[in-house]
Amino acid sequence: MIDVQHLTKWYGRTLAVDDISFHVEAGSVVGFLGPNGAGKSTTLRILTCFQPASSGSASVDGCDVFSQSVQVRRRIGYMPENVPLYPEMRVREYLRFRAALRGIPRSQRAVAIDKVLEDCWLSSPQDMSYRRLETLSRGYRQRVGLADCLLHDPPVLVLDEPTIGLDPAQVREMRNLVLNLGQKHTVILSSHILAEVEQVCKQIVIISSGKIVAQGTPRELRERVSGPGRLIVELRGAMAEQLARDVAAIPGVQAVEPAEAGEWCRLSVQSTEDVDVRVQVAAMAASKGYQLRELRREVASLEDFFVQITYEQSMRQAPVAL
Ligand SMILES: Nc1ncnc2c1ncn2[C@@H]1O[C@H](COP(=O)(O)OP(=O)(O)OP(=O)(O)O)[C@@H](O)[C@H]1O
Ligand SMILES: [Mg+2]
Repeated sequence: MIDVQHLTKWYGRTLAVDDISFHVEAGSVVGFLGPNGAGKSTTLRILTCFQPASSGSASVDGCDVFSQSVQVRRRIGYMPENVPLYPEMRVREYLRFRAALRGIPRSQRAVAIDKVLEDCWLSSPQDMSYRRLETLSRGYRQRVGLADCLLHDPPVLVLDEPTIGLDPAQVREMRNLVLNLGQKHTVILSSHILAEVEQVCKQIVIISSGKIVAQGTPRELRERVSGPGRLIVELRGAMAEQLARDVAAIPGVQAVEPAEAGEWCRLSVQSTEDVDVRVQVAAMAASKGYQLRELRREVASLEDFFVQITYEQSMRQAPVAL
Protein backbone atom coordinates (compact mmCIF):
# COMPACT_ATOMS: atom_id res chain seq x y z
CA MET A 1 0.00 0.00 0.00
CA ILE A 2 2.80 2.40 0.91
CA ASP A 3 6.19 1.97 -0.61
CA VAL A 4 9.16 4.17 0.24
CA GLN A 5 12.49 3.78 -1.51
CA HIS A 6 15.73 5.58 -0.62
CA LEU A 7 13.91 8.67 0.61
CA THR A 8 16.23 11.52 1.55
CA LYS A 9 15.45 15.03 2.72
CA TRP A 10 17.87 17.88 3.29
CA TYR A 11 16.79 21.14 4.91
CA GLY A 12 19.66 23.32 3.78
CA ARG A 13 22.62 21.60 5.40
CA THR A 14 20.53 19.51 7.81
CA LEU A 15 20.00 15.92 6.74
CA ALA A 16 16.57 15.17 8.24
CA VAL A 17 15.82 11.90 6.44
CA ASP A 18 18.73 9.76 5.32
CA ASP A 19 18.04 7.18 2.62
CA ILE A 20 15.13 5.33 4.20
CA SER A 21 13.15 2.49 2.60
CA PHE A 22 10.14 0.62 3.99
CA HIS A 23 6.94 -1.00 2.90
CA VAL A 24 3.50 -0.98 4.50
CA GLU A 25 1.04 -3.73 3.60
CA ALA A 26 -2.60 -2.86 2.98
CA GLY A 27 -4.66 -3.23 6.16
CA SER A 28 -1.79 -3.00 8.62
CA VAL A 29 -1.21 -0.52 11.42
CA VAL A 30 2.38 0.64 11.41
CA GLY A 31 4.08 2.65 14.12
CA PHE A 32 6.76 5.09 13.17
CA LEU A 33 8.79 5.47 16.30
CA GLY A 34 11.72 7.73 17.05
CA PRO A 35 13.07 10.35 19.44
CA ASN A 36 12.54 14.07 18.89
CA GLY A 37 14.05 15.30 15.66
CA ALA A 38 14.40 11.79 14.22
CA GLY A 39 12.67 12.71 10.97
CA LYS A 40 9.21 11.21 11.56
CA SER A 41 7.15 14.27 10.68
CA THR A 42 9.36 15.03 7.70
CA THR A 43 8.79 11.55 6.28
CA LEU A 44 5.04 11.73 6.88
CA ARG A 45 4.84 15.18 5.28
CA ILE A 46 6.59 13.82 2.19
CA LEU A 47 4.26 10.83 2.04
CA THR A 48 1.24 13.10 2.22
CA CYS A 49 2.56 15.46 -0.49
CA PHE A 50 3.02 18.39 1.88
CA GLN A 51 6.63 18.80 0.97
CA PRO A 52 8.99 17.31 -1.63
CA ALA A 53 11.90 15.00 -0.89
CA SER A 54 15.45 15.77 -1.98
CA SER A 55 15.77 12.33 -3.58
CA GLY A 56 14.24 8.87 -3.55
CA SER A 57 10.69 7.79 -4.31
CA ALA A 58 7.46 7.04 -2.49
CA SER A 59 4.10 5.75 -3.60
CA VAL A 60 0.71 5.26 -2.00
CA ASP A 61 -1.61 2.65 -3.47
CA GLY A 62 0.53 2.64 -6.61
CA CYS A 63 0.41 6.44 -7.08
CA ASP A 64 3.65 8.38 -7.00
CA VAL A 65 3.68 11.12 -4.33
CA PHE A 66 5.69 13.47 -6.51
CA SER A 67 3.99 13.16 -9.89
CA GLN A 68 0.46 12.09 -8.87
CA SER A 69 -0.12 14.18 -5.78
CA VAL A 70 -3.86 14.70 -6.35
CA GLN A 71 -4.49 10.96 -6.57
CA VAL A 72 -2.35 10.37 -3.48
CA ARG A 73 -4.19 13.01 -1.46
CA ARG A 74 -7.54 11.44 -2.35
CA ARG A 75 -6.33 8.17 -0.87
CA ILE A 76 -4.86 9.64 2.30
CA GLY A 77 -6.29 11.18 5.43
CA TYR A 78 -3.51 13.16 7.13
CA MET A 79 -3.60 14.40 10.67
CA PRO A 80 -0.59 16.67 11.19
CA GLU A 81 1.32 17.18 14.43
CA ASN A 82 -0.56 20.38 15.23
CA VAL A 83 -4.08 20.22 13.91
CA PRO A 84 -4.74 23.61 12.31
CA LEU A 85 -8.33 24.66 13.03
CA TYR A 86 -10.25 27.89 12.57
CA PRO A 87 -11.03 28.80 16.19
CA GLU A 88 -14.17 30.80 15.49
CA MET A 89 -15.87 28.03 13.51
CA ARG A 90 -18.19 25.45 15.01
CA VAL A 91 -17.35 21.76 14.69
CA ARG A 92 -20.04 20.88 12.15
CA GLU A 93 -19.48 24.09 10.21
CA TYR A 94 -15.76 23.38 10.01
CA LEU A 95 -16.33 19.83 8.80
CA ARG A 96 -18.83 21.13 6.20
CA PHE A 97 -16.19 23.53 4.96
CA ARG A 98 -13.56 20.77 4.81
CA ALA A 99 -15.98 18.40 3.03
CA ALA A 100 -16.55 21.03 0.36
CA LEU A 101 -12.79 21.54 0.00
CA ARG A 102 -12.32 17.81 -0.44
CA GLY A 103 -14.85 17.80 -3.26
CA ILE A 104 -17.44 15.64 -1.52
CA PRO A 105 -20.72 16.17 -3.45
CA ARG A 106 -23.15 18.48 -1.64
CA SER A 107 -25.80 15.76 -1.36
CA GLN A 108 -23.41 13.42 0.47
CA ARG A 109 -21.85 15.90 2.88
CA ALA A 110 -24.36 15.68 5.73
CA VAL A 111 -24.17 11.87 5.82
CA ALA A 112 -20.35 11.91 5.69
CA ILE A 113 -20.19 14.48 8.51
CA ASP A 114 -22.64 12.59 10.73
CA LYS A 115 -20.60 9.44 10.25
CA VAL A 116 -17.25 10.95 11.24
CA LEU A 117 -18.83 12.79 14.17
CA GLU A 118 -20.10 9.47 15.42
CA ASP A 119 -16.88 7.54 14.66
CA CYS A 120 -14.78 10.07 16.56
CA TRP A 121 -17.23 10.28 19.49
CA LEU A 122 -18.07 13.88 18.82
CA SER A 123 -21.85 13.43 18.65
CA SER A 124 -22.28 11.09 21.59
CA PRO A 125 -22.21 10.65 24.54
CA GLN A 126 -22.03 14.44 24.44
CA ASP A 127 -22.95 16.38 21.33
CA MET A 128 -19.98 18.61 20.51
CA SER A 129 -20.96 19.34 16.93
CA TYR A 130 -22.25 22.86 17.65
CA ARG A 131 -19.37 23.87 19.93
CA ARG A 132 -16.97 26.52 18.72
CA LEU A 133 -13.53 25.06 18.04
CA GLU A 134 -11.80 27.56 20.35
CA THR A 135 -13.84 26.29 23.29
CA LEU A 136 -12.80 22.65 22.82
CA SER A 137 -10.20 20.94 24.94
CA ARG A 138 -7.09 19.66 23.24
CA GLY A 139 -8.38 16.08 23.17
CA TYR A 140 -11.55 17.13 21.40
CA ARG A 141 -9.58 19.22 18.92
CA GLN A 142 -7.52 16.14 18.10
CA ARG A 143 -10.75 14.29 17.49
CA VAL A 144 -11.96 17.01 15.15
CA GLY A 145 -8.63 16.71 13.29
CA LEU A 146 -9.17 12.99 13.00
CA ALA A 147 -12.80 13.43 11.93
CA ASP A 148 -11.58 15.82 9.24
CA CYS A 149 -9.11 13.33 7.82
CA LEU A 150 -11.77 10.58 7.76
CA LEU A 151 -14.34 12.66 5.87
CA HIS A 152 -13.56 11.33 2.41
CA ASP A 153 -13.20 7.77 3.77
CA PRO A 154 -9.62 7.34 2.59
CA PRO A 155 -8.05 3.87 2.57
CA VAL A 156 -4.85 5.21 4.18
CA LEU A 157 -4.56 7.25 7.38
CA VAL A 158 -1.38 9.07 8.31
CA LEU A 159 -1.46 10.29 11.91
CA ASP A 160 1.44 12.34 13.24
CA GLU A 161 1.61 11.90 17.03
CA PRO A 162 -2.15 11.54 17.46
CA THR A 163 -1.95 11.35 21.25
CA ILE A 164 0.49 14.15 21.95
CA GLY A 165 -0.70 16.43 24.72
CA LEU A 166 -3.62 14.23 25.74
CA ASP A 167 -4.35 13.11 29.27
CA PRO A 168 -4.19 9.37 30.05
CA ALA A 169 -7.95 8.85 29.66
CA GLN A 170 -7.94 10.63 26.30
CA VAL A 171 -4.84 8.69 25.22
CA ARG A 172 -6.73 5.50 25.89
CA GLU A 173 -9.74 6.72 23.92
CA MET A 174 -7.57 7.79 21.00
CA ARG A 175 -5.80 4.44 21.08
CA ASN A 176 -9.12 2.59 20.93
CA LEU A 177 -10.20 4.84 18.11
CA VAL A 178 -7.06 4.02 16.13
CA LEU A 179 -7.46 0.30 16.86
CA ASN A 180 -10.99 0.55 15.52
CA LEU A 181 -9.88 2.44 12.43
CA GLY A 182 -7.15 -0.13 11.84
CA GLN A 183 -9.81 -2.70 11.05
CA LYS A 184 -10.83 -0.86 7.89
CA HIS A 185 -7.88 1.33 6.99
CA THR A 186 -4.15 1.11 6.50
CA VAL A 187 -2.75 3.29 9.27
CA ILE A 188 0.71 4.75 9.72
CA LEU A 189 1.17 6.69 12.93
CA SER A 190 4.15 8.33 14.50
CA SER A 191 4.93 8.46 18.16
CA HIS A 192 7.72 8.50 20.67
CA ILE A 193 5.56 6.72 23.24
CA LEU A 194 6.56 3.11 23.11
CA ALA A 195 3.80 1.58 25.15
CA GLU A 196 1.26 3.13 22.87
CA VAL A 197 2.87 1.89 19.68
CA GLU A 198 3.32 -1.54 21.16
CA GLN A 199 -0.39 -1.80 21.94
CA VAL A 200 -1.72 -0.43 18.69
CA CYS A 201 0.71 -1.42 15.94
CA LYS A 202 1.41 -4.75 14.34
CA GLN A 203 4.57 -3.45 12.74
CA ILE A 204 7.07 -0.93 14.09
CA VAL A 205 9.67 1.08 12.20
CA ILE A 206 12.23 2.71 14.49
CA ILE A 207 13.93 5.79 13.12
CA SER A 208 16.78 7.73 14.66
CA SER A 209 18.79 10.64 13.23
CA GLY A 210 16.97 10.18 9.91
CA LYS A 211 17.84 6.49 9.53
CA ILE A 212 15.82 3.34 10.04
CA VAL A 213 17.58 1.47 12.81
CA ALA A 214 15.18 -1.46 13.24
CA GLN A 215 11.84 -2.74 12.04
CA GLY A 216 9.61 -5.69 12.85
CA THR A 217 6.71 -6.73 15.04
CA PRO A 218 6.84 -5.58 18.70
CA ARG A 219 7.59 -9.18 19.64
CA GLU A 220 10.45 -9.53 17.16
CA LEU A 221 12.01 -6.32 18.38
CA ARG A 222 11.72 -7.36 22.01
CA GLU A 223 13.29 -10.72 21.32
CA ARG A 224 16.28 -9.01 19.80
CA VAL A 225 17.25 -7.59 23.19
CA SER A 226 15.95 -10.07 25.69
CA GLY A 227 17.21 -13.31 24.15
CA PRO A 228 16.59 -16.51 26.05
CA GLY A 229 19.51 -15.96 28.40
CA ARG A 230 18.23 -14.31 31.58
CA LEU A 231 16.24 -15.85 34.43
CA ILE A 232 14.95 -14.70 37.78
CA VAL A 233 14.89 -17.49 40.36
CA GLU A 234 13.61 -17.39 43.93
CA LEU A 235 14.59 -20.24 46.22
CA ARG A 236 14.85 -21.07 49.90
CA GLY A 237 16.21 -24.02 51.84
CA ALA A 238 19.89 -23.14 52.26
CA MET A 239 22.26 -20.17 52.66
CA ALA A 240 22.21 -17.77 49.71
CA GLU A 241 25.83 -18.65 48.77
CA GLN A 242 24.97 -22.33 48.68
CA LEU A 243 21.87 -21.75 46.54
CA ALA A 244 23.88 -19.63 44.12
CA ARG A 245 26.58 -22.31 43.90
CA ASP A 246 24.02 -25.02 43.17
CA VAL A 247 22.44 -22.97 40.41
CA ALA A 248 25.86 -22.08 38.98
CA ALA A 249 26.73 -25.77 38.76
CA ILE A 250 23.94 -26.39 36.23
CA PRO A 251 25.43 -26.90 32.72
CA GLY A 252 24.71 -23.85 30.54
CA VAL A 253 24.65 -21.36 33.42
CA GLN A 254 27.25 -18.64 32.92
CA ALA A 255 26.77 -16.40 35.91
CA VAL A 256 24.62 -16.14 39.00
CA GLU A 257 24.10 -12.93 40.91
CA PRO A 258 22.21 -12.74 44.17
CA ALA A 259 19.63 -10.03 43.50
CA GLU A 260 18.12 -10.05 46.98
CA ALA A 261 18.74 -12.12 50.08
CA GLY A 262 16.14 -12.51 52.79
CA GLU A 263 13.94 -15.35 53.80
CA TRP A 264 13.80 -16.12 50.11
CA CYS A 265 16.93 -15.84 48.02
CA ARG A 266 16.41 -14.11 44.70
CA LEU A 267 18.97 -14.89 42.00
CA SER A 268 19.54 -13.38 38.61
CA VAL A 269 20.83 -16.14 36.35
CA GLN A 270 22.62 -15.63 33.07
CA SER A 271 22.86 -18.66 30.81
CA THR A 272 24.67 -19.15 27.53
CA GLU A 273 22.75 -17.95 24.55
CA ASP A 274 20.09 -20.30 23.17
CA VAL A 275 20.07 -22.38 26.36
CA ASP A 276 16.96 -22.34 28.51
CA VAL A 277 17.85 -23.80 31.91
CA ARG A 278 14.46 -23.43 33.60
CA VAL A 279 13.75 -27.17 33.64
CA GLN A 280 17.21 -27.93 35.09
CA VAL A 281 16.79 -25.27 37.81
CA ALA A 282 13.43 -26.76 38.84
CA ALA A 283 14.90 -30.31 38.82
CA MET A 284 17.90 -29.21 40.92
CA ALA A 285 15.61 -27.52 43.47
CA ALA A 286 13.45 -30.65 43.72
CA SER A 287 16.45 -32.98 44.12
CA LYS A 288 18.02 -30.82 46.88
CA GLY A 289 14.73 -30.30 48.66
CA TYR A 290 14.72 -26.50 48.07
CA GLN A 291 11.50 -24.61 47.74
CA LEU A 292 11.07 -22.75 44.45
CA ARG A 293 8.77 -19.71 44.41
CA GLU A 294 9.63 -18.00 41.17
CA LEU A 295 11.26 -19.06 37.92
CA ARG A 296 10.80 -16.70 35.02
CA ARG A 297 12.58 -15.40 31.97
CA GLU A 298 13.33 -11.76 32.18
CA VAL A 299 11.85 -10.10 29.15
CA ALA A 300 13.38 -6.79 28.18
CA SER A 301 10.86 -4.09 27.43
CA LEU A 302 10.60 -2.47 24.08
CA GLU A 303 11.73 0.65 25.85
CA ASP A 304 15.10 -0.94 26.64
CA PHE A 305 15.46 -1.78 22.99
CA PHE A 306 14.40 1.66 21.83
CA VAL A 307 16.80 3.45 24.16
CA GLN A 308 19.66 1.11 23.27
CA ILE A 309 19.23 1.28 19.53
CA THR A 310 18.56 5.00 19.20
CA TYR A 311 21.47 5.73 21.53
CA GLU A 312 23.80 3.61 19.38
CA GLN A 313 22.66 5.45 16.27
CA SER A 314 23.12 8.90 17.82
CA MET A 315 26.62 7.93 18.98
CA ARG A 316 27.50 6.88 15.45
CA GLN A 317 26.36 10.28 14.24
CA ALA A 318 28.08 12.24 16.99
CA PRO A 319 30.91 14.44 15.79
CA VAL A 320 34.35 13.36 16.94
CA ALA A 321 35.78 15.78 19.50
CA LEU A 322 39.24 16.98 18.56
N1 LIG B 1 11.14 23.25 8.00
C1 LIG B 1 12.32 22.87 8.48
N2 LIG B 1 13.44 23.58 8.23
C2 LIG B 1 14.66 23.20 8.69
N3 LIG B 1 14.86 22.09 9.43
C3 LIG B 1 13.79 21.34 9.73
C4 LIG B 1 12.46 21.68 9.27
N4 LIG B 1 11.60 20.75 9.71
C5 LIG B 1 12.34 19.85 10.40
N5 LIG B 1 13.64 20.21 10.42
C6 LIG B 1 14.75 19.44 11.03
O1 LIG B 1 14.71 18.10 10.52
C7 LIG B 1 14.97 17.16 11.54
C8 LIG B 1 13.81 16.18 11.62
O2 LIG B 1 12.67 16.87 12.07
P1 LIG B 1 11.22 16.20 12.19
O3 LIG B 1 10.25 17.27 12.52
O4 LIG B 1 10.96 15.38 10.98
O5 LIG B 1 11.44 15.23 13.45
P2 LIG B 1 10.41 14.37 14.28
O6 LIG B 1 10.92 13.00 14.30
O7 LIG B 1 9.01 14.58 13.78
O8 LIG B 1 10.55 14.98 15.74
P3 LIG B 1 9.45 15.26 16.89
O9 LIG B 1 9.33 13.98 17.66
O10 LIG B 1 10.10 16.31 17.73
O11 LIG B 1 8.18 15.70 16.25
C9 LIG B 1 15.22 17.96 12.80
O12 LIG B 1 16.61 18.10 12.95
C10 LIG B 1 14.57 19.31 12.52
O13 LIG B 1 15.23 20.33 13.22
MG1 LIG C 1 7.33 15.33 14.57
